[in-house]
Amino acid sequence: MDTVYLNGEYIPADQATVSVFDRGFLFSDSVYEVIPFYQGVGFRLEEHLQRLEHSLRALRIDLKFDWVATLSRLVELNGGGNLSVYLQVTRGSAGKRVHAIDHHLRPTVFACCQPIRDVYQEGADKVEGIKVIVTADLRWHRCDIKSTCLLPNILVLQQARELGAQEAILQRDGALTEGASCNFFIVEQGVLYTPPIGTEILSGTTRALILELADQNGIPRQEAKIDYQRLIQADEVWISSSTRAIVPVVQIDDYVVGDGQNGLLWQRMFEIFTRYQHQLMTGE
Ligand code: PDD
Repeated sequence: MDTVYLNGEYIPADQATVSVFDRGFLFSDSVYEVIPFYQGVGFRLEEHLQRLEHSLRALRIDLKFDWVATLSRLVELNGGGNLSVYLQVTRGSAGKRVHAIDHHLRPTVFACCQPIRDVYQEGADKVEGIKVIVTADLRWHRCDIKSTCLLPNILVLQQARELGAQEAILQRDGALTEGASCNFFIVEQGVLYTPPIGTEILSGTTRALILELADQNGIPRQEAKIDYQRLIQADEVWISSSTRAIVPVVQIDDYVVGDGQNGLLWQRMFEIFTRYQHQLMTGE
């Protein structure tokens, strides 16, 4: 995992340096993506790159870049296999600290890899349900942008860990938005629900695929506002993200979800997802 990409070069991580005046460092003036590669093949790469374009446009960062070639090369240099690729684009450095945007800056482009588990191929019986807390959503009002301003996310994750939980689901104006680094779903009487896309949540690529696969497999689903009462009374609760896949939630604060076991619809969706992932990777 030693080779990283930085501004046109593939170099050892310990030789990669960025200016102290980089606006990503000074202002979190930057966006990112996390993309899983299974057996060296990007999973829903196009969808991740579309979301990256959305984030870059929102920040008015103008960058033409061959992501597919660059990321494929980086994955290859890191031995292929199952990796998550982190990429970050900052607005660049003006050589001094000034708030106002200078449109002439050259964006900093950085990417690195980390090993990930291929949870789908390991199988549903290897997945352990998690505990979550519900806490206030302290983030800004443009959560559709995948920005590196992650301090609120990091603080709520820490709060969750201090309470023996693995994730926090966030609450704003009486409705639940998403997790600190994931989307969430509930199941009520066989129907799958998740909050609607908007500026309050990140449009998750895993979320979108779950909805797509639900439609293809005749699983009823709806996008709807979900409040705390509905969450704790749901038959099943799941979280989803590129790096963690689809994970059942078995406890919320002090409430046990359903019978405290991984749910039946979760199992079905996990198997559907596994088949989809296998087909995409192998073409079979
Ligand atoms: N996070 N919501 C938030 C706030 C996230 O940070 C993420 C992903 C998601 C799920 O998006 P996707 O299904 O496209 O991964 C939802 C990544 C994995 C991270 O920050 O590491």
